[in-house]
Amino acid sequence: MGFDRVIRGGLVATAADAVLCDIGIGDGRIAALGADLPRGREEIDAAGLIVTPGGVDAHCHLDQPMADGSVMADDFYTGTVSAAFGGTTTVIPFACQQKGQTLRAAVEDYHRRAAGKPVIDYAFHLIVSDPSEQVLGQELPALIREGYTSFKVYMTYDDLKLDDRQMLAVLSLARREGALTMIHAENSDCIAWLTERLEAAGKTAPLFHAASRPAAVEREATHRALTLAEIVDVPVLIVHVSGAEAVEQIRLAQGRGLRVFAETCPQYLFLTADDLGGDGFAGAKCICSPPPRDKANQEVIWSGLANGTFHILSSDHAPFRYADPRGKMRRGSTASFRHVPNGIPGIETRLPLLFSEGVGKGRIDLAGFVALTATNPAKLYGIYPRKGTIAVGADADLVLWDPARAVALTNAMLHHNVDYTPYEGMRLKGWPVATLSRGEIVCRDGALLAQKGRGRFLTCALPPAAASR
Ligand code: URP
Ligand code: ZN
Ligand code: ZN
Repeated sequence: MGFDRVIRGGLVATAADAVLCDIGIGDGRIAALGADLPRGREEIDAAGLIVTPGGVDAHCHLDQPMADGSVMADDFYTGTVSAAFGGTTTVIPFACQQKGQTLRAAVEDYHRRAAGKPVIDYAFHLIVSDPSEQVLGQELPALIREGYTSFKVYMTYDDLKLDDRQMLAVLSLARREGALTMIHAENSDCIAWLTERLEAAGKTAPLFHAASRPAAVEREATHRALTLAEIVDVPVLIVHVSGAEAVEQIRLAQGRGLRVFAETCPQYLFLTADDLGGDGFAGAKCICSPPPRDKANQEVIWSGLANGTFHILSSDHAPFRYADPRGKMRRGSTASFRHVPNGIPGIETRLPLLFSEGVGKGRIDLAGFVALTATNPAKLYGIYPRKGTIAVGADADLVLWDPARAVALTNAMLHHNVDYTPYEGMRLKGWPVATLSRGEIVCRDGALLAQKGRGRFLTCALPPAAASR
């Protein structure tokens, strides 16, 4: 039996190496890798192109219900279309429990939101905001066993945060069940106190968002999160790490032999707190938490990507439109920063930014790029080797990159439903020209070829990295 498709003559890159070879695809999977494979029913010429595994965006927010009345701009259709154009073939957004809600209800609601929409495959993390007896005793263990094997907890945001005792309770459940806990580490009381003082002084413009969440706030919470995890003796992953002070805590813990994983995001490589300033309210476009820091911190994040401190680079795509009463301007253009929904768009730009500025400028190598954006997230969240690599038997989730293509980023060329990109005008070299999901071409040369709803839900295995010793 012949191949459905053959991708011919590309430089095939994995987290281990890069070789010039053909990829034979059958029944949505990689059927063969080698030189001079027999012709397929369809041939894709990849000469001069680099072929990587499809990206796994393990931290993004799509159609997530918000307690403050704001509305995310991307649903599972626009969000996954945008992801696919940017070279991502699997997304893992969050089924978020509202306080008082059962986890089961949050998961069912999220499945309804996704139904019939995604163009690429998807899994769910959980967000645990109300670790009641029922949640800890029944729901969470049951959901973990059903394939929701990772969950996020918050140390800040009034509607989501857990106190230290609750953190210990969920961490020990994660240890017992073998799940991976993702932690948003910022000190809530410090933020509240600083915010009150800034507002009392009339300092309410978007720029002051950064002053309300200085690096010390993140450092202290990171230290505390790692201490709690050490007490329980369980691996954890610190999400969206913004700079040197949190990195230092993570390195110290890793150096002491604790199993600590870390994630960072493009906003901490390419934005600074200055981007929250500028004319009028425009800085609201770059309000996210933790906030971007400064150039020196960007360099520390780059080093952390190269030296193994960070295991994954995710987008933390949290899409709110700017000029929209349900988005950044929810309370108008003179509102205090505290009322601006947190988060920035980036599901489509994550890979091109890292490819151009990381691989292209020699800050990381191609294997590191694949590891950070596809292989490691697939491993950490229990979907490897089906996702995250190029190997016989794996899903044929593949991206073809033209390393020579020069692109000036504009929001108009992106496919999300947000009215801006924080990276407007950036000049990149290297661009994903085709994305395949389970062997089907989802998008190619700017055209969307996938049917709405073709994406499949993935249950996740228990992450080996989270297994207790
Ligand atoms: O500001 C951010 N990061 N918004 C998204 C939600 C989160 O905490 O990840
Ligand atoms: Zn977070
Ligand atoms: Zn997030």
